Order: sequence, then C-alpha cells, then structure tokens
Amino acid sequence: MATFRHICDSVAVITLSNPPVNALSSALIQALQKALGEAIRDSAVEAIVICGDKGKFCAGADIREFNKPSQKRGPHLLLLTDLIESNKKPVVAAIEGVALGGGLELALGCHYRVAHVQARVGLPEVLLGILPAASGTQRLPRLIGIAAALTLITTGKYVPAREALKLGIVDKVVGENTVDEAIRLAKKVIGQPLGSRQLSTLPVQCPPNVEALLAEAMVKVKKQFRGAQSPQACIEAVRAAVHLPYTEGIKKEQELYQFLNATHEPRAQQYAFFAEREVAKWTLPSGASWKTVSPQPIHTAAVIGLGTMGRGIVTSLAKAKIPVVALEQDKRQLDIGSKAVMSLLDREILKMEQLGHTEATNSLGPVRFTLDYDELKDVDIVIEAVFENMALKKDIFRRLSVVCKPEAFLCTNTSGLNIDEIASVTNRPQMVIGTHFFSPAHIMKLLEVVRGCYTSSTTISTAMRLAKMLGKIGVLVGNCPSFVGNRLMRLYVEQAVFLVEEGSKPEEIDLALEDFGLAMGPFRMMDLAGLDIGWKARTEIGLTGPKLPIGTPARQRGSKRYSPLPDILCEQGRFGQKSGQGWYKYEKSGGRNAMPDPWLYNFLSEYRCIHNLKTRNITQEEVIERCLYILINQGFKVLEEGIASDPKDIDVIYNNGYGWPKHTGGPMYYASLVGLPVVLTKLEKYYEDNPDILDLKPSNFLKKLVASGTPPLKEWRSHLGSQSSKL
Ligand code: CAA
Ligand code: NAI
Repeated sequence: MATFRHICDSVAVITLSNPPVNALSSALIQALQKALGEAIRDSAVEAIVICGDKGKFCAGADIREFNKPSQKRGPHLLLLTDLIESNKKPVVAAIEGVALGGGLELALGCHYRVAHVQARVGLPEVLLGILPAASGTQRLPRLIGIAAALTLITTGKYVPAREALKLGIVDKVVGENTVDEAIRLAKKVIGQPLGSRQLSTLPVQCPPNVEALLAEAMVKVKKQFRGAQSPQACIEAVRAAVHLPYTEGIKKEQELYQFLNATHEPRAQQYAFFAEREVAKWTLPSGASWKTVSPQPIHTAAVIGLGTMGRGIVTSLAKAKIPVVALEQDKRQLDIGSKAVMSLLDREILKMEQLGHTEATNSLGPVRFTLDYDELKDVDIVIEAVFENMALKKDIFRRLSVVCKPEAFLCTNTSGLNIDEIASVTNRPQMVIGTHFFSPAHIMKLLEVVRGCYTSSTTISTAMRLAKMLGKIGVLVGNCPSFVGNRLMRLYVEQAVFLVEEGSKPEEIDLALEDFGLAMGPFRMMDLAGLDIGWKARTEIGLTGPKLPIGTPARQRGSKRYSPLPDILCEQGRFGQKSGQGWYKYEKSGGRNAMPDPWLYNFLSEYRCIHNLKTRNITQEEVIERCLYILINQGFKVLEEGIASDPKDIDVIYNNGYGWPKHTGGPMYYASLVGLPVVLTKLEKYYEDNPDILDLKPSNFLKKLVASGTPPLKEWRSHLGSQSSKL
C-alpha cells in the first residue's frame, strides 16, 4: 500500500501503491499515515519524498469508496495534508503520471513538488459533483492566486507539467528520474526554514477586483454547467479562502462538501464516470467479449469523403499517429478537403505547442490525399464518410471489396442507414461495421459502434480498440434505423416542434431544456446542424416532397402525428445558421447569434389558423416532461429490442454525444432519479392527451419494471430477456 524505505540514510521514500492508479483508498491513506509516522519518528530520517508506484503519483480519492459510510472511511486525507505540512522535516512530492484530486491535495500539503514532464495535475472533483475537500480550495489559491485557482477548480481541467510549472503549482519539471531529482531536492533543503513552503500559512494574494472576479466566475459556471451545483459550491469555497483565515476556510470547504454530498449530483456524476469505463467491457450473448476476443492491429487507415465528418475523422486518426490515406471524388473536392484537413492539423499542432510539446509536428500521423482507390489496397481499416445515400454507399463498398486486402475492415460513418444492407454488397460482410462519429469528429468523445447481423466479434473488438486508440469512448449498439443516439433524438426534436404547434415559442422550449442542463436546446441545435439535412432525408423517404402521395393530410403520416413546420421553413430557404435564418434569425449567413424572429411569430399564427390549432399556455414542466420522457421511453424500447444491452450505454451516448448534463447521470439514470412510476404515469397522461403521438405510449419494458417493483438501474438488465439482444 504505502511502503517506506531509506535512501542514503537521510531521505525516506514513501511509495503509494494501489493499482491501477494509486487511488487513495481508506487502506492506502491509513498505510500512508503509518509510513509518515515512522519516517517522522525515525531520527535517522531528515527529509521525506512521496512518490507513486508504476509511474503514477496518485489519481485522488478512490471513487469506488464514495458510497461507503464516512465513519468507515478511515483517516481523512485533510488531516494527513496538515500533518505533512506541519512536519519539520521537508517533504517533497515526486509527481509522475498524474496528481489529481486528493492526489494533488496531498502534493500541495508537501513542501516541494517535482514533476515529470509528461505528468498532469488537476482538481477534477467538480466533474464528480463534489469539490476538493482536503484543503484544495484553500491551499491552491494561496499558491497560484485566485484567478488561476478558480479556473482549475471550477473546470476540473488537467494541467500538463510545463503549464503547472508556469502557474507555480510545481517547483521543477524533469525529463527523467523524477524520484531521484526529488531526493536530490529533499537533501538540498534539509535544515532550511519551511515557513514559506507551508501553503496554509500564506496569505491569499487578492487582486483589487477580486469580488468582480468571483462574480464573473459565477456567471460563467451558471451558463456552462446549467443546473449543476458543484461548480457554484467550488466558487463559494474559493470565496472563503479570500475572506477567511485558513482554518475557517477549511470549515466552509467541509460544509459545502457536506451540502453537495446530500444532493443527487455526486452519485449521478460518479455513475457517469464508471459507466464511461464500463462500456468498453462489451459482451455478446454468444459469450464473446472484450476479454476473450483480440482486436486486429491497426497500423494504417483510409477515409473516404472529406466533408464535415471525413475531415474530422482524418484529423482524429492523425492525432492518434495512425497514417491515413484520404480519398475524395474529384480534384475540386480533394483540394477543398485537403485544405480543411491541413488547417485542422495546424490547429492541433498549435494546441500541442501551447501545452509545451517541443516536437508537435512529429506527433501527428502522416496524411496522404488521393483520388486513386489503388492507394487503399494495403490499409488495415477504411472509414467511409460520403453523403448519406444508400446507393452511393453500396457503390463504394463494392469497390472497396475489390481494392482492399482481404484482412481490411470496412467501416461506415452513416448516421442511420442499414449496416446489413451495406455489408451485403461486400465480399466480407463479417468485417463491416458502423463507426458513427459525432461532429466535430476530432473533438467529440463518442463513437457509436454499430454491429450488423454479419459483423464478427473480431471486427467489434477492433472497432472498440480503434475508439480507445482515438481517445474516444466506444459504445457498442445494434443495427436499427438511426441506431441509438439519433433514434432517441429524433423523437425529442419532433416533440419540441409539436409543442411549437401547440403554442410554445422555440426560444421558450430551448430555454427550458437548457435550464435543465442540456448544452443546447433543440431549435438552436437544428439551426446549427442545418434544417436542410433532415429535410433531404425526409424528402428521400417520401415523408415530404414529390414522393409524398397526393391527398396525404398535412399533419399526419400513417396513423402518426407529423409536423410539416420544418419542411415549410426549408421550402422558404430557412436552413438555420448557414442561411442566416431558421427557427431564429442570425446577424448574417453563417452567423451564430440566435435572435427570436418576429417573422416566425407571424408565420406560426397563420400556420395555426390554417390548421385550426388552438394555442394554449405550455409550462416549462410540460416542455421538459414531454421532450425528455418521450426520449427516455424510446430508451426503454431500445433496451427491450436489444439494440442497447444496458441503460448505461444509452447514458454514455447521451452524456458524450448529445450534451446531456452529466450531473443527472444521463437520460436513463435521470428516469431512475425521477422514479419510474412517475415517468410511466406522465407518459400515460400525455399519450391519453395526444393519442396520435404513438411514441408517447409507454414501452412494455418500462411497464414491466414498474410492475416488478421498480428495481434499481443496475438490475434493469436482468429483467430483459437475453433472446431479444441484437448484439
Ligand atoms: N478511483 C478509483 N478508480 C479509479 C480512479 C479513482 N480516482 N481513477 C481511475 N480509476 C480506475 C478506472 O475506473 C479504471 O478502472 P477499470 O480498469 O476497472 O475500468 C482504471 O482506474 C483506469 O482508469 P482509466 O480507464 O480512466 O485509465 P486512463 O489511463 O485512461 O486514465 C486517469 C487514468 C487519468 C487517472 C483517469 O482514470 C481519471 O481521470 N481518473 C479520475 C481521477 C479523479 O477524478 N480524481 C479525483 C477523485 S475525487 C478526490 O480525489 C476528492 C477527494 O480526495 C475527497
Ligand atoms: P458532407 O456532405 O459534408 O461530405 C461528404 C463528402 O463525401 C463530400 O466531401 C463529397 O465530395 C464526398 N463524396 C461524395 N461522394 C464521394 C465518392 N464517391 N467518393 C469519395 N468522396 C465522395 O457530409 P457529412 O456531413 O460529412 O456526412 C458524411 C456521412 O457522415 C454521412 O453518412 C452522414 O450521415 C454521416 N454523419 C454526419 C454527421 C454530421 O453531423 N454532419 C454526424 C454523423 C454522421
């Protein structure tokens, strides 16, 4: 756990050991306390170095223990940091890998900090719904000032060693032998006064505008983390560091921690943290799993189509140092695409240089641009990202079958077309899989990995491995129209449009859902993505446009309610941001500043008149319930059909691909928070009021769970029949 050994008689080295990340479990804290006590008592020891085993200092508190009752958690890290700081023997932290959360707080209790150049430090507690409660909110501002501390504590950002040195968090950065360097430093400072190194005793250096700074930070976090309480509590704790002496500040830090801990947010965020890691551990009903099926190596890749998605996918591969061949349909598109990719790569290099990478250019994989399919013959994997058109995609996959080596995997970035249909035209359907990236593909963390009925477990394993190589979270789902993410999203967006027909304004709906915590309301999102994309898709399948049978009622398709509103906006050339007007108006084409549009109000009045729609007052509560519960209901259907194997898969998709607020855990976790009987009753009521919105009809699985006494979320899976799985 924490071992203690002497070096050169005078320096004791204490090594934290709790694989895989040396998290501070109660046992480790206890062992550290014991080892420190021994070192302090040992008269032969004149200085102490604390380091972490296997090149990782410490990733903070052991999150798995958060739900343990506090009296069973053993000694508090806070007391340990005070013990270290008040010790007369100098203590040096040797930081390799990470010093995060409690790990950094431990290091801040030490008198000196030496970091390896590749180490990262940070206080990510806010991302777990809590705040740094082992003195982090009190010591860090004393060390680096209010502004920088506020940024770190409220964003949870990880800071690379060189930046940490600039900020003053660490005293020295070394390229190798971090522990040796820490020992050297410890020996050098033996006998020197430690007063200026005891952070709790230092005054907080406050700029004259400190209150304005705190107020500004509050405005920022309220906007950025809408509905979440921990970022605000973090600011209050830093405010305490400004106004109160250290011991009083610590009391406030504890109070705020207790307050947050009594809310649902920590549990939701911690659930989201582990869910993101668990989705990598896929299992098929056949028994094949991440443990038993090895991925094939990917040394080279190709991307077809360098539009919005293709250029981001190429950049993502290059960032992972995978050499890429990038193919377009003609010279003009190739020129446009290659310029766009080079500009994205330049930006990546700039970002890396700003973070102190000296060889940024060399850390990207090479990209070769081409029009020639022959250049694809040796690549290990191809990702197709051409227009969303089945005939075109099939054409390309037929061609890939001929050109690519037999071992090459063929992936499609389709956002909802049938993977089996695409696979069926190839000579290797078992090696075809959906890799659904999210825009912008070099930034968004989510990769929906879509298994078709022919896809082999090796192909799944390789695609999931690719996600990891790209630094993304791969979630395995089954093949159905629009897969999981977009299938749920379509109903949510449709519901928002129905609410506009019934009397809401787009901006009211956006505000309600953004206040709930979604990164962007549905109307701003549609305007950003471009209304024409959905319009084209609906036209292609005959929901609107020339293929729509004559005599189809305007607001009905089959037995379902349909809103032609988005189609009419497109017919008027209102495509959203790109055309300067959509659900909102913008300062110019391509503008980003969404403004309510009086034109739309008039248009909506006329539309409601034509269709004989009576408007009514719609509350925020109804907006949230109808938009979110219909999405959640579809989540239950997706589980029932075996398209996703666990509610956490849906939650990870929504948290990482659709801007769902993590402090509510994700849509399915949120349903469990609200209570399944409540969700069911509301759906029943809304369905009764709107019998032509068929997707409001509660799913059988939701009803089954309620009838079974509403088991906790982790048991839902066991209530699903295994035969339903499409995985
Ligand atoms: N506690 C418990 N387990 C942890 C952990 C932690 N703090 N951090 C990581 N793990 C586990 C992960 O769950 C994962 O377990 P499995 O292999 O069983 O899935 C394993 O360690 C490896 O983690 P990753 O897959 O994330 O590995 P990585 O190399 O990609 O990233 C990391 C490593 C940067 C440390 C990343 O895991 C991370 O950011 N961890 C979170 C750190 C954090 O939030 N610390 C603050 C904790 S709160 C606190 O410290 C407050 C306090 O004292 C009171
Ligand atoms: P886009 O229209 O921006 O780009 C498509 C590119 O494919 C164009 O550059 C075009 O020249 C190229 N192309 C067309 N035919 C080709 C051929 N025969 N050979 C080589 N290149 C060809 O489209 P976008 O938005 O990048 O979408 C691509 C795919 O990704 C679609 O299947 C789409 O559904 C999917 N997708 C799109 C998302 C988005 O947000 N735009 C999100 C996730 C998936």
